Amino acid sequence: MKLRSIELALPDPAAAATFMTRIWGMAEAETKGDTHYLRGSGPFPYLVAFEKAQDEFVRSTTFVCTSEELEALKARVTAAGWTASPTTSDDLGGGHGLLVELPEGTILRFLVGAAEVAPIAGRDLPVKLTHVVFNAADAEACGHAVEDILGFRVSDRTKGMVFVRCNDSHHSTAFARAGFASLNHVAFEMEDIDAVMRGIGRLRDHAMVPAWGPGRHGPGANVYAYFIAPFGPVIEFSTAVEKVPEDYQAGAPEDWTWPPNRIDQWGISDKDFDGLRQAEERFRFRRDWQAAPL
Ligand SMILES: [Fe+2]
Repeated sequence: MKLRSIELALPDPAAAATFMTRIWGMAEAETKGDTHYLRGSGPFPYLVAFEKAQDEFVRSTTFVCTSEELEALKARVTAAGWTASPTTSDDLGGGHGLLVELPEGTILRFLVGAAEVAPIAGRDLPVKLTHVVFNAADAEACGHAVEDILGFRVSDRTKGMVFVRCNDSHHSTAFARAGFASLNHVAFEMEDIDAVMRGIGRLRDHAMVPAWGPGRHGPGANVYAYFIAPFGPVIEFSTAVEKVPEDYQAGAPEDWTWPPNRIDQWGISDKDFDGLRQAEERFRFRRDWQAAPL
């Protein structure tokens, strides 16, 4: 199982695509109608889709999986009575699978048979998405739900987050203890720390400073730099997230504490709590499909 892409709807997809390709550092994959598909250097046909809509919302977050994984998902989602539907992807790469709405409205899509493309060179391109994090009213319940029904595993719990993996990467998603459900942030996997730092430089050239970072997290130990995108959501340059073994012992909040005035391993950066919080409230989830038997 791999995290592949996020599909966002917003009023001005062209402006969002321009920022992401000219400044953030992505490559145009294709534009179909009003929908802009942007890719990284890796084999996925796209990592972010921007489609035109009056409001801003998350259409889906997409994972690719095997047929066996899909069949197992269908059985457990059906048994749990979750809102779900079979789906055929009209997005780049196609594929088919299922759409599922988690208990707080987060919409995930699981695809098999989605095409891949030849990797491209580009040292300032992200390789892929490394995680998409969601805000939740009850992050603990969301963590249990995705473990029980989707077969994900909780890697660590902190005071703020429940980190969840779907392969050997420490986390591909997480649920933040926010008190409401929305998109928390989207993280792009850069080749190395230098690529993260050059990214910070590119944004600085355009008078943008990190809302948080650079720094190195506790859980996952990834390097990060968070920005508030001009089109709304929080986006992150990230690299070097830990790989964990099958039997990784999930840490508890008391295992992940910091000395006073520290919230990461380096302690070199401030965090714009208010700005981040406002940005995190913007992209909610919207289901534009009807439940149907899997
Ligand atoms: Fe992150």
